Amino acid sequence: MAKCRESADNGNIANRCGDHAMTDEVQITQTGGVVEIMFNRISKKNALNLAMYEAMAGELNAAAENPEVRAVLFWGAGKYFSSGNDLKDFTAVLAAPKALIEGDNAIVRFLTALERFPKPAVAAVEGSAVGVGTTLLLHCDLVYSAKDAEFSLPFANLGLRPENASSYLLPKLVGHPRAAEWLLLGEAFDASDAEAAGLVNRLVDDPVAYAREQCEKLCRQPPKAMIETKALLKAADRKQVATSFGEEMLSFTDALNSAEFAEAVAAFFEKRPADFSKL
Ligand code: COA
Repeated sequence: MAKCRESADNGNIANRCGDHAMTDEVQITQTGGVVEIMFNRISKKNALNLAMYEAMAGELNAAAENPEVRAVLFWGAGKYFSSGNDLKDFTAVLAAPKALIEGDNAIVRFLTALERFPKPAVAAVEGSAVGVGTTLLLHCDLVYSAKDAEFSLPFANLGLRPENASSYLLPKLVGHPRAAEWLLLGEAFDASDAEAAGLVNRLVDDPVAYAREQCEKLCRQPPKAMIETKALLKAADRKQVATSFGEEMLSFTDALNSAEFAEAVAAFFEKRPADFSKL
């Protein structure tokens, strides 16, 4: 079970956490109207595993329903956002690929809960945001980043495909050439590129402190106006996001069974460069 740190001014969080499948690797706190979701798996650079996704999906769905919650803030412990999906956990996904397509999977439950989260979602990025660590930012409303943070989308490098509707949202946001460079080469790009491209709102010295201040401002705004404004901002894209998400999942599931992915993952854990020359 998770250790849900209780914030000084809200004792409800422990009870709420008790309702969900939880893990110590995500810490949930609530201060006033802000629920903070902190990735807390420092030894693995905050790679997101299935238990973490499940806990976060439950938390987001509860926060969506709870009128006391006005905003959610994502950040990573150890001054590191996230190294993306846990590469070992993909073997669990491989055991039930249909579940991924049909949405009966913790990863899909989390991504769907975030995409549908009706209230402002804020992220504070320090260190690196890799893979889903970056694509989840596309579904947040406000993103603040450290000046020395790095971002990367190494799906193709792993023999995988873009996920989380990033094949649609990224070129829409940054244009095809830049999206193609980030997705085809999978190289890290820096925070100033991310800001210039519109992936992050602002570069700041202390992203978590700054994001908390922004969340407090959101809490002081009229709550219905927040929800309706976000819904209107997202309305035009909702159908296309769902279509891209589904198409990506089909392709992603195929890719998980590929020789390219097998070589990439073996190379990562054997700490050697991948060799795709004979595939
Ligand atoms: N899944 C599982 N384990 C991961 C991981 C991931 N996504 N990212 C890092 N780890 C583990 C490493 O295996 C290592 O474990 P070990 O100490 O048992 O050997 C530990 O976390 C630290 O990672 P390390 O690679 O030593 O740190 P680094 O600072 O040199 O590099 C990264 C950090 C994120 C650049 C590098 O770990 C990396 O490329 N990770 C994979 C990222 C990725 O492909 N994500 C999936 C996208 S779909």
